[in-house]
Amino acid sequence: MHLVTLPVALLLCFSQPILSSTVFPDPALTVNGIPFSTRAHWMRRANEALGELTHSPCPFAAFGTAIVNHTDTNGLGDLICIGVNQNRQTGNPALHGEIAAITNCTTVLTDPHGRFRLTTSEAQDAFADLTLYTNAESCPMCASAIRWAGFREYVYGTSIDTLVQNGWSQIHISSLEVFQASWDLSPQTLFMGDVLANETDPYFLWQFDPTYPCPDGCSRSGNGTRCRVSMRDELK
Ligand SMILES: *[C@@H]1O[C@H](CO)[C@@H](O)[C@H](O)[C@H]1NC(C)=O
Ligand SMILES: *[C@@H]1O[C@H](CO)[C@@H](O)[C@H](O)[C@H]1NC(C)=O
Ligand SMILES: *[C@@H]1O[C@H](CO)[C@@H](O)[C@H](O)[C@H]1NC(C)=O
Ligand SMILES: *[C@@H]1O[C@H](CO)[C@@H](O)[C@H](O)[C@H]1NC(C)=O
Ligand SMILES: [Zn+2]
Repeated sequence: MHLVTLPVALLLCFSQPILSSTVFPDPALTVNGIPFSTRAHWMRRANEALGELTHSPCPFAAFGTAIVNHTDTNGLGDLICIGVNQNRQTGNPALHGEIAAITNCTTVLTDPHGRFRLTTSEAQDAFADLTLYTNAESCPMCASAIRWAGFREYVYGTSIDTLVQNGWSQIHISSLEVFQASWDLSPQTLFMGDVLANETDPYFLWQFDPTYPCPDGCSRSGNGTRCRVSMRDELK
């Protein structure tokens, strides 16, 4: 298979051995037989998981994930599960969108009455066929979980750099660094960043910038206040 080389891959020559997990393809390309239009479809699904699971048009922690099987490259692929950040909802500080989705997929895959009915060990192995789409680059906790799960592919929208530039507190370790440091975990995970960032970025730009317009359906009740569901929409 032709592997795409980019400056990032070049940089890695000097640090770690180059493995498939550390190749960083151009998001516009067809990668693993999947065209950009399909990547965009699933990244939008990760965004949509927010409205579906939070029932708010402007959840503050707007981190959404969709986990998809497209080992069969015909068609769009098969959605296995979705997840969103559930810190607030559950009180569990580790339930970032990606962890929530991995947890949900495990439930879906092992549900004795569900579509898959896998044993626990089959469920663990199933992640090697799956692609995780997250609308923002994973923090090092989630990036590590993605490598422990052995996902086939990991695709993110907004970068940690963009989050930080827009006021989000973060642990300043990129997914690339986590992936580089996990080169001896197999299987490897193909890595794609900045996919449809033009559509994921707006989910993260209003929280710490009181002049930034609220998402549709929300408004600020006063100067500098948080975006909340508009009264008009609440009454609908
Ligand atoms: C993913 O798709 C492949 C090929 O279509 C199939 O063999 C595999 O069982 C699927 N995995 C899951 C978890 O659905
Ligand atoms: C789990 O994923 C399924 C399938 O996409 C979805 O219907 C369900 O609401 C999700 N549950 C949670 C708790 O996120
Ligand atoms: C975002 O960019 C992609 C191309 O990278 C394009 O297909 C899509 O229409 C753009 N979205 C918007 C809302 O402009
Ligand atoms: C909001 O407050 C900031 C300072 O706190 C001020 O610079 C800005 O002009 C105000 N905007 C409006 C619309 O009142
Ligand atoms: Zn995380």
